Amino acid sequence: MNVELKNIHKHFGKTHANRGINLTIPSGTIQGILGENGAGKSTLMKILSGFIQADPGSEVILDGKPVYMDSPASAIRYGVGMLHQDPLDFPPMRILDNFLLGLPSSFFPNRKEATQDFNLLAKEYGFSFDPENYVDSLTVGERQQLEIMRLLFLGARVFILDEPTTGISASQKEKLFATLKKFPEQGMTVIFVSHKLEDVENLCDRVAVLRGGELVGETKPPYNTSKLVEMMFGKVVTLGERQPAQTGDTVLSFQNVSLEDTRLKIKNISLDLRAGEVIGLAGLEGSGQGMFMRACAGLVRPVSGKVILKGRDLTGKSYHTFKREGVNFLPAARLEEGLVPGLSLTDHFVLAEEPKGIFIDRAAGQKLAEDRIKSFNIRGTPTSTVESLSGGNQQRAELALLQSPLSLILLEHPTRGLDIESVIYIWSKLKDRCRQDGAAIIFISSDLEEVLQYSDRLLVFFSGRVSEPIDAATTSVEQLGQLIGGKNWPEKGGAHA
Ligand SMILES: Nc1ncnc2c1ncn2[C@@H]1O[C@H](COP(=O)(O)OP(=O)(O)OP(=O)(O)O)[C@@H](O)[C@H]1O
Ligand SMILES: [Mg+2]
Repeated sequence: MNVELKNIHKHFGKTHANRGINLTIPSGTIQGILGENGAGKSTLMKILSGFIQADPGSEVILDGKPVYMDSPASAIRYGVGMLHQDPLDFPPMRILDNFLLGLPSSFFPNRKEATQDFNLLAKEYGFSFDPENYVDSLTVGERQQLEIMRLLFLGARVFILDEPTTGISASQKEKLFATLKKFPEQGMTVIFVSHKLEDVENLCDRVAVLRGGELVGETKPPYNTSKLVEMMFGKVVTLGERQPAQTGDTVLSFQNVSLEDTRLKIKNISLDLRAGEVIGLAGLEGSGQGMFMRACAGLVRPVSGKVILKGRDLTGKSYHTFKREGVNFLPAARLEEGLVPGLSLTDHFVLAEEPKGIFIDRAAGQKLAEDRIKSFNIRGTPTSTVESLSGGNQQRAELALLQSPLSLILLEHPTRGLDIESVIYIWSKLKDRCRQDGAAIIFISSDLEEVLQYSDRLLVFFSGRVSEPIDAATTSVEQLGQLIGGKNWPEKGGAHA
């Protein structure tokens, strides 16, 4: 299906999120949409998929016909379906029921037939699900696959994916890309929104770049990466040199710690983490790095061994004790665990601070919000609700919620969804903060380049095994990739860089 966006404008109050965008996407192509955080990408896609309406005068034309879509349901009737940036709410229901959601009941006379059709369709696209399993047992990648299947079944001819690769593993990404690459043959159009230049370059036949709500350029392969970056930011952005840690006293010490949950056992971790140091945790999802991080936060109690924070034995103490001692944990799912929809930025800063009395100090909260908005470069105001911020700005807001005193910062996917410039910026902020407060950082990222660029040392996790600390400066992406996949580990003990 041929998609034409004509003179698209969208205001949110004073924010002019789309400013007269004109873009034609030919049938059967994979169109990439690039742009920095807050550029207006999600807004444009939500307009095309009926989630929000553009300002009057804007036009969406499908196969030559102007259409008016006032809801996602009407968009799907025209053949436009969208996979969202933040996973939509999945109620605790069975996979099959979730799949049938929104379909007229006349489609399937009975459950048996529905199950058969579901299995056939899954097979056709190379996905494997047990339709009687519950949706909340699925990984983010599998939920995506399920959603893709549902949209296909509903008759989507235009497929919009808003940052689909941020929460999924490398192998799920490969699978997703293989699926998407087949779509054009069937005359389907794919629109792929991302910050990841590498993904866009691998997948897309053409790329449009947005900046400040405007379309600033379009290109086709062969892509020139630095040109694309320049288009995104309006200037040249460089990664900069690795900065070695200037390390101080020991902040956290793990002494022969063993951890265990229902699936996994990790034995005898010993580690000394110093002030100013950054440790990256790498591994396929579910290899134990999440459990290790939760043990650092006081959320998982060790089965044996000792956890010492700044000289105090905190073994077996509660999350609140760890928090009081300056351990800050920022989990991955930002809207689910970190931020509260409906509350403003000021509300969040007020709530995050230790109460000084029984009354909430609004004025101080407002001031704090203004300061943090400035220092973390958040595009928003103290009264903005978190859901009105763009995905990347939500992430910045979460990082701005770090409180004092600070001895240890634990971050899960700290820069997921951030554009390169923001990644560089946020890391420099985090490192400054560490230096000031004598704190250390432990972070998890599925982006190997990020792990190597910003860690001093790293730990690799592979099905319950943990490597010895590895020097990040002398490790390559390839070496790290192999360790993560369980290759080149020494026979006994840990791995060596
Ligand atoms: N519902 C809303 N209410 C108010 N402002 C909004 C709303 N949705 C988006 N905005 C604003 O519109 C601008 C563009 O946001 P949009 O989500 O389209 O950006 P984006 O390019 O998708 O960014 P990101 O890469 O961070 O996801 C931002 O300034 C954002 O704060
Ligand atoms: Mg977005």
